[in-house]
Amino acid sequence: MRIVAVLGAGKLGEVLLSGLLRAGWPADRLIATARRPERAQELTERYGIRVVDNETALRAADVLTIAVKPQDAGTLLEDIGPKVPGDKLVVSLCAGLPTTFFAKYLPEGTPVVRVMTNTPALVDEAMTAISAGSHATGDHLAQTEEMFRPLGRTIRVPESQQDAVTALSGSGPAYFYFLVEAMTDAGILLGLPRQVAHDLIVQSAVGSAVMLRESGEHPVKLREAVTSPAGTTINAIRELENHGVRAAFLAALEAARDRAREIASQS
Ligand SMILES: NC(=O)c1ccc[n+]([C@@H]2O[C@H](COP(=O)([O-])OP(=O)(O)OC[C@H]3O[C@@H](n4cnc5c(N)ncnc54)[C@H](OP(=O)(O)O)[C@@H]3O)[C@@H](O)[C@H]2O)c1
Repeated sequence: MRIVAVLGAGKLGEVLLSGLLRAGWPADRLIATARRPERAQELTERYGIRVVDNETALRAADVLTIAVKPQDAGTLLEDIGPKVPGDKLVVSLCAGLPTTFFAKYLPEGTPVVRVMTNTPALVDEAMTAISAGSHATGDHLAQTEEMFRPLGRTIRVPESQQDAVTALSGSGPAYFYFLVEAMTDAGILLGLPRQVAHDLIVQSAVGSAVMLRESGEHPVKLREAVTSPAGTTINAIRELENHGVRAAFLAALEAARDRAREIASQS
C-alpha cells in the first residue's frame, strides 16, 4: 500500500487523514506536515501518525497531497517543488489552482491530479471531482479515487470543467444551507416554533436527497408526485416561478463559476 503525505494538514487535510484511517488505511502509511509545532503535536496525538517537515515527507511518501490554502501554495512549492523526485504523484486539493500552476514549480513530467471535494466529507458524504493534469495517467486517477472514496462519491471530469464543479458541488452545500435557513424562516412566518420548523425542513431535505440518489428518478418526476392538481404544492411552485428562483440559481452558479475563473487567472 502506498504512503500518502498530506502537506499542510489543516481542516480539509485532517478530514482526508481521518477518512483514510476510518477506511482502514494503516497509520504508518500516512504522513502529515504542519506549519505550527502545536498543530503537529495535535495531529500526532489525535491520529498516531507521523508529522514531519515537508522535505522529509516528499522523500518518504509516494503521494504528495497539497492541502495548503491556494495563497500559500506558491511559497510551499518554491520551497519543495524542485526537490520532488520524479516518481511521486502530486494531488492538489487547492480550490481554483490549475495543474499548470503546479507544473511551473515541479520537475518536468511530474504527474499532477487536481481534486475538488466538499464539506460533507466530514460525514463521508462528499462529492469529489478528480481531473488529470497533462502527465497524470489513468493509474494516477485510480490512486486518487482510492484515497477519496472513503469520504463519499468520486467522479472524473476534464480539468476544463473544474470551475463549474467548484460552483456546483464545491460551493453547493452553502446553497442547501441557505435554502434550509429560508424555509425555516417561512415556517416561523406560518407560526411554527423555530426548532419544529428546522426539524421538519432538515428531515425533508435528507429524505428528498436519499430519494433522488436511491431512485435515480428525474427530479421533475419526483416533484410531480407531490404536485396534485389544484393542490397546495402547485401554488407554492407558482410563487417560486413568479419570483424567478430558477433564474436566480442559473445566475448565481454562473457568478460562482466566473469567480473561480478569476481566482485561477490571478494565480
Ligand atoms: N475546507 C473546505 O471545505 C475545502 C473544500 C474544498 C477545497 N478546499 C481546499 O483545501 C485547501 C485547504 O483548505 P483548509 O480549509 O483545510 O485550510 P486550512 O485549515 O488553513 O489548512 C491549511 C494548513 O496548511 C498549513 N500550511 C500552510 N503553509 C504550510 C507550509 N508551507 N508547510 C506546512 N503547512 C503549511 C496551515 O498552517 P497554519 O495553521 O499555520 O495556517 C494550515 O494548517 C485549500 O486549498 C482549499 O482551497 C477546502
